[in-house]
Amino acid sequence: MLSSMVATPITASDAATSQDISGLYAHFIGGRRVFPDGPPDLVRNNPAASQQTLGGFRSADFELVATAVRTAAEAWPKWRNTAAPSRGKILLEAARLMDQHREELARLISLEEGKALKDSRAEVQRSINITEFMSGEGRRFGGYTSGSESVTKFAFTTRQPLGVVACITPWNFPLAIPAWKIAPALIAGNSVILKPASATPASAVRLAELYQAAGLPDGVLNVLAARGGPAAEALLDAEAVRAVSLTGHTSTGRHVAARCAQRGVPVQAELGGKNAAIVLADADLDLACAGIVDGAFGSTGQRCTATSRTIVVDSVADQLLDRIVARTRQLTIGPGVDERTDIGPAVTSEQRESVLQYLDIGRLEGAEDVYSGRLGDLPDGHWLAPTVFDRVQPSMRVAREEIFGPVLSVIRVPDAAAAFEAANAVEYGLAASVYTRDVRAIFEFVDKVDVGIAHVNQPTLGGEVHLPFGGVKASGIGPHEQGREAIDFFTKVKTVYINFA
Ligand code: UN1
Repeated sequence: MLSSMVATPITASDAATSQDISGLYAHFIGGRRVFPDGPPDLVRNNPAASQQTLGGFRSADFELVATAVRTAAEAWPKWRNTAAPSRGKILLEAARLMDQHREELARLISLEEGKALKDSRAEVQRSINITEFMSGEGRRFGGYTSGSESVTKFAFTTRQPLGVVACITPWNFPLAIPAWKIAPALIAGNSVILKPASATPASAVRLAELYQAAGLPDGVLNVLAARGGPAAEALLDAEAVRAVSLTGHTSTGRHVAARCAQRGVPVQAELGGKNAAIVLADADLDLACAGIVDGAFGSTGQRCTATSRTIVVDSVADQLLDRIVARTRQLTIGPGVDERTDIGPAVTSEQRESVLQYLDIGRLEGAEDVYSGRLGDLPDGHWLAPTVFDRVQPSMRVAREEIFGPVLSVIRVPDAAAAFEAANAVEYGLAASVYTRDVRAIFEFVDKVDVGIAHVNQPTLGGEVHLPFGGVKASGIGPHEQGREAIDFFTKVKTVYINFA
């Protein structure tokens, strides 16, 4: 079953903007690329040139899922018994290899996901950062000692890995999200089955290969690509899988959490967002405008921390909007692999359709379409131009639902109190930002805004890898990712009492 290679090579005429990644359209199990027999059902076209096939292969079936789980389970004891600082050395070497291959990785991300090279380069840097950070955790791995109620007792806690864990990742950060789930899972001594989004499996395979080149034993990290369906769900039900970390839609996260609850298996889910940038009357409007445009349209808005709402007080709304429209006009739409591009295509035609539908919904709801970008002369691709909706009411769907595209909804409010209230009037709670110089307003914002990540005078985007990342309300389930806390999810705590009387 693991024999022949079913991959359709790319037919790129422009070698400068393409690379042959067809061989990366594979599963990676037990330390090698695996191409199951049978006609390809995971075929990926270039999002920036839809007639160009990047590669194709066959989705994992029940048998391949079982093979991956068995492989990971067999590889686990050796990895568990490798000292944490030694595991850390392998992570550090993986980070070094990512650094060495940074340009290749960035181009791969831009090619398969579509995002602009500058965004892909930032994504590679983030992958390096988290791997480097977690490598150091290998020397800090453990628990704490404590006094006891009895003077002849010694009490301490220790942390142990769980076994095999599954990481399920989306297409919008095809390298960084796998990297930031894998690094804590591995440093904690687990073996991993990574199921990347079926739209972007190649970056994940490359990441696994770099780990292998760094010295990770075969079978400790496996990549299994599968379309949604019964075979993919078999991964959730596999007896050996002891935890599931997922990033994706809120509905998917809740489905996976419910399914895993039947086996008592913990789930960490990083889900949707409807992030607001709040602009108060005293804000530096140039700073706010730069952060909002970058937050709304960078990565084509396909980012769970994207700024999809701007909540602005009436007194500065017109001035801010003028600046936003002028700055958005400057953005260049084009293929991600082109250095000049600011906004790449949507990842798939389905994603593009979904965003276009939201534009219709917004107009029908009465939002004022104050800016709709024009597409230039582009090849067939999943292009989307940035759109700014003004006078959006908090009750409108474009103000409440995650669009995951380059669409910004501007909500006007009378004052700061109304702004904070509007920010919280959605089911999501991932990130928010406020632009102001007023110390009281800053602390009021930090206290009142119901999100996992609060930014002051900077965009709603991202975060630094040594600090926790995650949301509240419909934006997350379970403990946050990244930071030292990330290890908690991938370990179990044992409390030990030693009576030496
Ligand atoms: C970021 O926006 O920098 O899927 C990170 C996502 C998030 C990660 C975003 N889980 O977009």
